[in-house]
Amino acid sequence: GLPEYIKIVEVGPRDGLQNEKVIIPTDIKIELINRLSKTGLPAIEVTSFVSSKWVPQMADHKEVMRGIERHPGVQYPVLTPNLQGFHSAIAAGATEVSVFGAASESFSKMNINCSIEESIGKFEEVAKSARNMNIPVRGYVSCALGCPYEGKITPAKVAEVSKRLYSMGCYEISLGDTIGVGTPGSMKRMLEAVMKEIPLSALAVHCHDTYGQALANILTAIQMGVAVVDSSVAGLGGCPYARGATGNVATEDVIYMLNGLGINTGVNLYTVMEAGNFICTALNKKTNSKVAQASFNT
Ligand code: HMG
Ligand code: MG
Repeated sequence: GLPEYIKIVEVGPRDGLQNEKVIIPTDIKIELINRLSKTGLPAIEVTSFVSSKWVPQMADHKEVMRGIERHPGVQYPVLTPNLQGFHSAIAAGATEVSVFGAASESFSKMNINCSIEESIGKFEEVAKSARNMNIPVRGYVSCALGCPYEGKITPAKVAEVSKRLYSMGCYEISLGDTIGVGTPGSMKRMLEAVMKEIPLSALAVHCHDTYGQALANILTAIQMGVAVVDSSVAGLGGCPYARGATGNVATEDVIYMLNGLGINTGVNLYTVMEAGNFICTALNKKTNSKVAQASFNT
């Protein structure tokens, strides 16, 4: 049956804001994260320790990491593609990191400037240093349901990369539908392959909603027993190295669906909607959450 509890990993401050054209003031990012911290969300991805030449939107990673209030029981992971990023993250006070690989060679090259094989080497260095410091490491696999450069990606390739990340010590593997092309059919086939290699309890899904399939894909994954779902407040987001990719599934919409299924998340929908309203006002844009649109219109 369905999981009784689903952990929601909020990625809006990172995946969402990395893709905004305007540079968002650091204090707005900090206030967004502080508001999200009060909603009951168990994990909030804060920022990325990547090159500011590559992703200028995340250039204030140190200030954001240092500026946020940390609530007990909330995890605050940050992206670290290599040892340099890992060391900067730790120096700024990070207590959890994520490495981010891909199941597509071309995407790996475009996103982190190296092959999949080379990236695994860099992630192993991060994982080793993290282990020595008792820092948990999460692992992403992008292009799990398709690649903006290569099109179809085989479930076998996703399973292979996932297994390598899991074997090096990543406690959780987040399967990214980077460009939101997946369907319940491709999600099911991909998960069947990955579940042969990795325990279900170590899997998460990370759906972008480009083709409007995200909620259906998430429902498929949770029906298969996946109990960790990444989402983004107000549906903010995209990926700077995946043109046309729109935001992640909206956190509000995921919570609404899970509430309807009687699945506990521990998150207060209304306060997430308020945080979404805050960031949309700051960005001067309309929310991508259908639930927030419907709620604030009535
Ligand atoms: P590179 O140019 O290959 O790195 O970039 P390098 O090791 O050759 O070093 C070159 C320069 O970069 C040097 O600086 C380094 O200091 C610097 P210079 O001497 O020229 O002044 N550098 C760094 N600076 C800051 N932080 C670092 C770092 N490492 C080296 N960690 C690198 C490699 C990975 C850094 C680069 O390609 C990069 O920053 N890429 C951005 C990747 C990114 O953030 N993508 C978006 C997030 S992934 C995503 O959105 C997908 C996800 O949501 C899941 C899904 O949806 O599928 C996670
Ligand atoms: Mg993403």
